Amino acid sequence: MSTRKISSTEYQKFQELIYNEIGITLNETKMSLIESRFYKRMLYHNTECFEEYYNICMADSSEKTQMLDIITTNETYFFREEEHFRFLKEYVQEYGMESKLRIWSAASSVGVEAYSIAMVCDNILPPNKWEIIGTDINTDVIKKARMRLYNISWAEKIPSEFKLKYCLKGKGKFEGKFLITKEFAKNVKFQISNLMETNSDLGVFDIVFLRNVLIYFNTQTRQKVLKSIMGNMRIGSLLIISQTENLNSLDLACLEQIHPSIFKRIS
Ligand SMILES: C[S@@+](CC[C@H](N)C(=O)[O-])C[C@H]1O[C@@H](n2cnc3c(N)ncnc32)[C@H](O)[C@@H]1O
Repeated sequence: MSTRKISSTEYQKFQELIYNEIGITLNETKMSLIESRFYKRMLYHNTECFEEYYNICMADSSEKTQMLDIITTNETYFFREEEHFRFLKEYVQEYGMESKLRIWSAASSVGVEAYSIAMVCDNILPPNKWEIIGTDINTDVIKKARMRLYNISWAEKIPSEFKLKYCLKGKGKFEGKFLITKEFAKNVKFQISNLMETNSDLGVFDIVFLRNVLIYFNTQTRQKVLKSIMGNMRIGSLLIISQTENLNSLDLACLEQIHPSIFKRIS
């Protein structure tokens, strides 16, 4: 890699832009990560100057989107934090079925959280009684989520009965991969969406999974994101965050903690 080092003025400009657009706070320890992540895009634009690349992002919204895509950390896996899926199974088993169960995988990354939730729901409820929406700011992960195709190693965490029911092992050019079945995936939709904005078009949910994303936000942004998410939660609905995250120091009187990392909207 031959790009020169990013100066602190250039870095500050990107910090501000990224914070304003998607709420991610980049601290000073991320400077070399930014240098290496931007390298390919800068090469594409034939520049070694971060200021120039910043100006390109400001002038061209599609480049800005690509820059933001490479900033996000998309680590995820099937049935991450199993305890939540045990809880979900009990919830779905007790679900009254008068109306369709709606679950939002907010910050869904490549979709495996949404498909894990969907497997639990489909195994218990008829197909017309549940629906999952996955959203993410990163355009690339949303494309991958819609493709439903994953490396076979990712299937390790999927319970065997679900593997048999919802996964097709790839052959030929798809050797080493597996596909989530199309029929079952019909109830799982993905769309690009920014948690920094109100998402009223998504409607109201019974459960919101908001896991492993709050960690990238400062307190002010967390408050803003949570306030907006309340607009998508009916009274009595649940919010599930990661077991490694918390809602401490946020003003959220409308939520009551009912389990570690699980909250109920009470007003
Ligand atoms: C570490 S992944 C978490 C994936 C999944 N929820 C899980 O727990 O496995 C974090 C995701 O948050 C997304 N993200 C970050 N900022 C966002 C924002 N402002 N709006 C929507 N998604 C965002 C990233 O693109 C990334 O895919």
